[in-house]
Parts: sequence; C-alpha cells; structure tokens
Amino acid sequence: MPGLRTPLCDLLGIEYPIVLAGMNNGSGGQSKAATPTELVAAVSNAGGLGVLGYGFNNAQEFDEGIRRVRSLTDRPFGVDFMVPAKFAEVGAKTNNELRKDIERDYPAHISFVRDLIHEFNLPEVEIPDERPSNSEPSTREKVEVMLDNKVPVFACATGEPPQYIVEPAHAQGMQIIGMTGAVRHAARQMAAGSDIITAQGTEAGGHTGNITSFVLIPQIVDYVKPRPVLAAGGIGSGRHVAAAMALGAQGVWVGTAFLASEETNIEQTHQETILAGRSEQFTTSKFRDGMTVRAFDDEIKRAWDNSGLQPLPMPLMSIVNEPLSVAARQTGRFDLISNSAGQVAGMVTERRPAKDILMSLVEEAEETIEQLHTNVGAVTT
Ligand SMILES: Cc1cc2nc3c(=O)[nH]c(=O)nc-3n(C[C@H](O)[C@H](O)[C@H](O)COP(=O)(O)O)c2cc1C
Repeated sequence: MPGLRTPLCDLLGIEYPIVLAGMNNGSGGQSKAATPTELVAAVSNAGGLGVLGYGFNNAQEFDEGIRRVRSLTDRPFGVDFMVPAKFAEVGAKTNNELRKDIERDYPAHISFVRDLIHEFNLPEVEIPDERPSNSEPSTREKVEVMLDNKVPVFACATGEPPQYIVEPAHAQGMQIIGMTGAVRHAARQMAAGSDIITAQGTEAGGHTGNITSFVLIPQIVDYVKPRPVLAAGGIGSGRHVAAAMALGAQGVWVGTAFLASEETNIEQTHQETILAGRSEQFTTSKFRDGMTVRAFDDEIKRAWDNSGLQPLPMPLMSIVNEPLSVAARQTGRFDLISNSAGQVAGMVTERRPAKDILMSLVEEAEETIEQLHTNVGAVTT
C-alpha cells in the first residue's frame, strides 16, 4: 500500500502530512491552551507537525512553552499566534485603561455584558490590569521570542504575516504558514511571502470565513501553485484527508479532531460538547473578539445576536466580554463561555491519545486511496 507522503513532508521534515492546528483560545479565550505543549510534542513525536497556539499568552509564557516543547520532542514543530490585520489604536494602554475608554465610547456594549452578568447571577470580578495580549506591542514581543528560539515554523493565525516577521524569519530558514478563507486572501498571502498556504473552509472551529472547504480548497490550490496547500476545516477522518489530497492539498491542518485528545487542555464541558454535539450545534458569532468565531451554540451568543450591537475591533471586543467570561469560568459556568469547535465535531465521538487520532487519520487515508483505485472505474457493464 502506498504511504501517505507528499513533498510537504520533505519541506517540513515530517513523516506524515498531518499538522496539528495551533489553538490557543481554549475554552472561552483563556490562556489555557487547547494545544498545550504535551499535545504539540505528541503530534510531532507521532510523525506529524505539532503547532503551539499561544496567542493569548504573554511573551514569557510563550518562551517557556517553546522551551518545554523542545524538552519533549526533538522533531520539528511550529508556533501560531494572531497578527490582527487592523489593531485598534491602543498604544501601550492596559486593559483597565482601555475599559474606561470603551465605557465612554461604547456604553451600550458595557451595559449588555453587565446585564448578562446579573441575568446569570455571576459575580463581579477583578480583571488583571495587563496590556491586552493581542495588541501590537505584545505581538511584537512574541515575534522576538519566536525568532530568538529559532522555531522552524510560524503559522500566522489571522491576516497575512507582516514584513517585520517575514524578513527575519526567512533569513533564519523558517517556513511561514498563511491562513486563507477566500481566494483574495491567497493573493495577499503570496504578496506577503507565506511559504505554505492553509485553505480553511467555513466548517472550521474558531475564527472562520463563509466558503466551504469543498469549494475553497481547489481554488486556492490552483491560485497559489506551486506553493503547497494545507486543507483545513472539517478534517476529522482519513476519508477527509484523502478527499483533501484529491482536491490538490499536500497536507491537512486539523483542529477540532485533536480537541478529542487526552493531551488537550480544554475544559471538560468543552470536550463533552465536541464528543456529544451535532454538527448543526456549532454556529458562528462575532461576540467573542469581534471576528467570526465558530463555537458550540450557547445563550450568550443568542443574546448578542438579538442585541443589534456591532462588534468592536481587536482587542476591544475581548475587553468588553472579559468580565463575563472570567466570571463564568470562576463559577464553573463553562456553558456560558465560547466553546470553539467546528462542524466536524458531529462525527468526533471518542476521547483518545493524540497519537491514535493521528494514526487513524493516516491509516484510513491510505486505505481510502487504495480503495479508490479498486472501486472507481471497476464497475463492468
Ligand atoms: C478551540 C479552538 C481554538 C483555536 N485557536 C486558534 C488560534 O489560537 N490560532 C489559530 O490560528 N487558529 C485557531 N483555531 C483555528 C484552528 O487553528 C483551525 O484553523 C481549525 O480548527 C481547523 O478547522 P477544524 O476545527 O474543522 O479542524 C482554533 C480552533 C479551535 C476549535
């Protein structure tokens, strides 16, 4: 049987073209990573590429995370964090200073969250007065940490990577993965200098667009040729992996399916929504951070949809909702926080070690490709 190997494996120095999607904002956007160091190392040790999603962590935590991955594996791995296309003008302001600005400029947003806190009997909580993790100064600090640690792969979670990342990263031989949800994004990723392009369909968990994987992947493959494409959004079985290869992808970027792993650090409630939820229960909202996020359906998302309010740019929206998500976490109301996951959760039903998840994807993909040779065109009249 032919092995599941593509030129991308050689480019990244991995055995199988299966990449763990970097996932930071675990349950409700807290700093507990959905892709903790143990999961990253498990995927890399099993022959895929583990990617550490640490966008909500500060630079010191990020540095510690990278060092810990290195202590657990000597195989290649990547890191992933958001570089918002448009930062709100926050300068070096802290969360509390920004909250005061928001209270002045967007009082209806503050009242919306305050009313929900009362409605659900949640406590008033103290928010640590730090600089927001997804502001421009914090992002630049993480870039320094990534370069100093000579991480082999950077995945730019949103938007295209800016030149202050691309130039030094390429100078030290790093590969850059750029995310797309539409062909126009691919043009921008090429211009920015991304080496590997992820084509992610709307099915995906977390930040997402509105075009399905089936429609998007071949368009991106054709557009960015000969650059390799990772297919993303709805990859949860080896049949999906084989289909992605048939559409021209050289590998897959898998998020939700790895959230059923034993190594992930998401809350139990969150993992249960993935193991028990139906595909149609994973819906989109802009409430969490101002961008479209796919997560398990909840009462907060429904209230936001009915509020008539418009989302604010990063990082303001996260600051607006933080008192609610922190209070919900502190009181164990994990059903009220954003439990991100994609539609493929509807077919993910078992909690397993990450290595088993990865090997099932590989083995089922190989069998599927083999069966296609036998089955397609084998009908005689
Ligand atoms: C809980 C969760 C957290 C995520 N956090 C991030 C993140 O921090 N950075 C990022 O690039 N993508 C993030 N994503 C998106 C994933 O990297 C990936 O693109 C997506 O999960 C792929 O689709 P799938 O869920 O259908 O496999 C997140 C997704 C989920 C489900």
